[in-house]
Amino acid sequence: MSQPEKRGVSRRSFLKGSAVAGIATTGLSAATARPSAPPGPQTFGPGEHEITLRINGAERKVKVETRTTLLDALRDRCDLTGAKKICDRGACGGCTVLVDDAPVNSCLMLAMDAIGHDVRTVEGLADGAQTHPLVDNFVQCDALQCGFCTPGMVMSSLACLEKRGKPTVEQMRDDLSGNLCRCGTYGRVMEAIQKTAGAADNGGGGR
Ligand code: FES
Ligand code: FES
Repeated sequence: MSQPEKRGVSRRSFLKGSAVAGIATTGLSAATARPSAPPGPQTFGPGEHEITLRINGAERKVKVETRTTLLDALRDRCDLTGAKKICDRGACGGCTVLVDDAPVNSCLMLAMDAIGHDVRTVEGLADGAQTHPLVDNFVQCDALQCGFCTPGMVMSSLACLEKRGKPTVEQMRDDLSGNLCRCGTYGRVMEAIQKTAGAADNGGGGR
């Protein structure tokens, strides 16, 4: 004979119901109490991504892979070939550009790491026929022979001038120590820096 269905809540169903409710409540309060998770790292790759770089005061959109160096992005994607790829390992300074006013070996910096920073290349020192006094003084002081190291040398010299105003010989040696010149133009490069600094003192550009 079948048992008549019991009415109301049995002890067993009450305990089961309490447990479920407890879990649900705990879960709910945990979810409510948990602080909003910080955004995870942005992932890139494989393949190219479009990024925006600020180069010589202008925004440039370039497509790069995550492994693309700033030097390759400048030369191959922006057609700015002033910075030279000589050693490609941070030993010669031929690829020097300024990033937020500091000289940087662009062969050692990833293009993506330059996002949000001001990049200046040697091309930024000319505006049509108008060139920066430092460039003019490199020419006047005959501070180049083959010229291969020159763009990097000019950018390190510019950083030295901007940082120090009127650098001493010791300071110039320090600031140019990362730039190698196989033609041995160091003395004349320092002359060009001093001439520019002296002219700036007199309110001119040393032309
Ligand atoms: S090419 Fe970058 S330091 Fe030589
Ligand atoms: S001018 Fe030739 S390497 Fe410097």
